[in-house]
Amino acid sequence: MNVLIINGPNLNLLGVREPGIYGSKSFDEYLKELKSLYLNFSIDYYQSNHEGGIIDKLHEYGFGKVDGIILNAGAYTHTSIAIADAISAISTPVIEVHISNVHSREQFRRHSFISPVCIGVIAGFGLDSYRLGLESIKEYVKNKK
Ligand code: DQA
Repeated sequence: MNVLIINGPNLNLLGVREPGIYGSKSFDEYLKELKSLYLNFSIDYYQSNHEGGIIDKLHEYGFGKVDGIILNAGAYTHTSIAIADAISAISTPVIEVHISNVHSREQFRRHSFISPVCIGVIAGFGLDSYRLGLESIKEYVKNKK
């Protein structure tokens, strides 16, 4: 099984950024642990602070290169029609993931432009949200066969 994880803006600062909300582990550290749990998975990773970079990556991977994409679009979740359009345009299933429970925070985080075009949403489980995303792709692909 091949998957791509995309992290959006400010998520390069995980471990440093607001640790009370996002935890104190860097994503590189977490990714190593995740890969060691899923040795039979090929997990590619991309992070960008730029909307266009995320869209280009969705286009690149969105036509059969991987079985699924786990996307934490960061604040673009709440603002980007362009990322939502990119997800609609591709054929690979995309799962929306958030580290924090966006519904327990500010009102503006409760709206997502990308939820309606993703196959599902996982939020609020800390970095474990990404592992849950992997599990959901695994099940989704199995049930599609
Ligand atoms: C986030 C939640 C977003 O509202 C925020 O802008 C982020 C991170 C999360 O993973 O909890 O950058 O996507």
